[in-house]
Amino acid sequence: MNNRLINSLLSAILLVSCSSNPDLYKDPSQPVAKRVESLLEQMTLEEKLGQMNILVMGKSDNLNNTEDREGRKLTPEIGAFIYYDSNVDSANELQRRAVEESRLGIPVLLGHDVIHGYRTLFPMPLAQACSWNRDLTYQAARIAAKESYMSGLRWTFSPMLDVARDGRWGRVAESYGEDPYTNAEFAKIAVEGYQGENLSDKYSIAACLKHFAGYSYSQSGRDYNPTDVSDLSLWETVLPPFKAAIESGAATVMSAFNDLNGEPIASNREMLTEVLRNKLGFDGFVVTDWRSLEQLITQRVAADSLDASVMALKAGNDMDMYDYIYSRFLPTALERGVIDMKPIDEAVRRILKVKFELGLFESPYTEKVSDEDRYLESESVETAKSFAEESMVLLKNKNNTLPLKSDIKRVLLAGPMVDDRINMMGTWQSHGDQSDVVTIYDGLKAEFGDRIDFTYIEGASFLKNSDKLMSNFKCSAQTTDMIILALGEQAKWSGENGAKASLDLPESQVQLIVEGAKYNKPIVVLTSSGRPLALSNIEPYVDAIVQMWQPGLYGGEAVAGILSSRVNPSGRLAITFPYTTGQLPIFYNHRANARSAWGASQGSYRDAPTEPLYPFGHGLSYTEYEYSSLKVSKNEFIKGEKVTVSVDVSNVGEMDGKETLLWYVDDCVASISQPIKKLKHFEKRLIPAGESETFSFEIDPQRDLSFVDRDGVSHLESGDFYIIVKDQRIKITLLD
Ligand code: BGC
Repeated sequence: MNNRLINSLLSAILLVSCSSNPDLYKDPSQPVAKRVESLLEQMTLEEKLGQMNILVMGKSDNLNNTEDREGRKLTPEIGAFIYYDSNVDSANELQRRAVEESRLGIPVLLGHDVIHGYRTLFPMPLAQACSWNRDLTYQAARIAAKESYMSGLRWTFSPMLDVARDGRWGRVAESYGEDPYTNAEFAKIAVEGYQGENLSDKYSIAACLKHFAGYSYSQSGRDYNPTDVSDLSLWETVLPPFKAAIESGAATVMSAFNDLNGEPIASNREMLTEVLRNKLGFDGFVVTDWRSLEQLITQRVAADSLDASVMALKAGNDMDMYDYIYSRFLPTALERGVIDMKPIDEAVRRILKVKFELGLFESPYTEKVSDEDRYLESESVETAKSFAEESMVLLKNKNNTLPLKSDIKRVLLAGPMVDDRINMMGTWQSHGDQSDVVTIYDGLKAEFGDRIDFTYIEGASFLKNSDKLMSNFKCSAQTTDMIILALGEQAKWSGENGAKASLDLPESQVQLIVEGAKYNKPIVVLTSSGRPLALSNIEPYVDAIVQMWQPGLYGGEAVAGILSSRVNPSGRLAITFPYTTGQLPIFYNHRANARSAWGASQGSYRDAPTEPLYPFGHGLSYTEYEYSSLKVSKNEFIKGEKVTVSVDVSNVGEMDGKETLLWYVDDCVASISQPIKKLKHFEKRLIPAGESETFSFEIDPQRDLSFVDRDGVSHLESGDFYIIVKDQRIKITLLD
């Protein structure tokens, strides 16, 4: 019997058994599939379409998503809300209406963009990746889930898995950087953290993988621009993080704004059904991105909203985010026979499945507890502090300017970030509260107490400078022992719709640095941004640079800890810092330049270096690590065999430190030209001063030495490979 026949028979059996008991779907002891069918068969068209909508409740902190449609009557049958409030009473009231006032009592799903924490804000995702700390990432996602759950949510639109290689694009802040393996690893951890062991457990919320797929390739970094992604890039770079997160059980996926091969994802059946479901095995529901169905008209593939509704449904979008297009136009499409009930039933089936799995039918309401009992628990605060400390990256430290030495008694602090709260929290602030933020100023005062006399003068704002702002700065600069400048970008310059044409610091801030350099005092620059910066124009003027990113609530305390040496910096870049914006896109795992063997004169820029200022993986420490004895368990091996490489790492400095090992594979010759190296494993560990640790990496040839082709088919070819870790490399050979 073929599969289709078996499925039809099973559905028929299910239907017979369901029809006999209309309340079967309320029985938690029944299998989810059976409950779904029992409920689905009782639903009217209107009820089904209601489930296929996510509408908006309250206001968002995302400037693009603040509109509201006046006078809209919200029926209790609506499937989901983006719920911006943290008021549990009104969340429960929405649930009460759904459960008690709708005919079938289907609970509503409340979701929200909890991107790097709910009230306890952690560093933004790109910074999280720079910590290379799996454990902290997992804890942060668990805490975000718990605070969200206690505020009525059961769904977050996170993690964002768009591998980001163009720093002009504002949403690089939300990604885990430029590398597909890194994104895949963090994707798995985020899903496991949000969803916990079981979706139905208390404090578990559904993850939403976004934006499927290719959105980060927006041309010239401008948000919502078209994308041109080769099939090979799609399978090699774009899809691996989604694949990993789907294998970890992610419940939902968001379809992206962009197009592929001229077909917007929102209407792209090949991507949303063939690739996502049939090839990657996703079995949850797909929600569209904010009003992306209406955009099908702007993108010139749909003539009108009716057209858009049909295309989107057929492609595989189950829930319509805030377009009302499904509820308004699908009835007409049905009447005209352009579609039948099958895709509608399929969409509702998937949505209900997730609601049952979340346990919403059994426990739709949220227990009300005080803010003290749901937010900023002491362990959450500790996690947020450690995360901020480990995600900051010491980019430069000439003559060991940092940590601050005991002869530094007077410090001039200047720049727009010194006393900042709002931008420290970063993009997508959820329910972060400014009053919880430890500013850089407060952090430094608390860290150094009376030991250092800090003078704070603004000196420059984010975008403006003036003689007035500068004059006090000039006076104080003459008498200080050191100048610390806290600079960078406003939070709203990154995130959605936050594109920038230049990655340089704004001119006003550059002027402050240049002025500061005139006084022959050590200059430390602390940079906050949601993207990599192009710092080559200021780098020669300064002695030390700490990239703070958007560190969340405790960034001020964390950076103060780095300056004092209470914290030994351990972050490493998960995204390349270019020398200049013109190098973009620039990333470590590119293919070889055809003339790279001919020397530096070929294929280089006439007006800029070829190399970035700070490469992927760069990050300094206050101690030094020496790598030695790179060994492999077997130099030659056959497919199916595993080999282990190991290396000794000694902390030869005087301070304990956490070192991250980044293990790369270089596939020397392959039938499809491979990137010059590919990250395949990372591990971070504490190594006490004076001690050594042995790190190892077990290579599974199928997983670590294979590559995909443009159809997504994996190939494992025999031949030589190099395993690279820091300055060490060793050859291994896969035999036929
Ligand atoms: C963004 C999504 C976000 C959604 C809901 C959209 O504009 O692209 O990432 O999840 O809004 O806020």
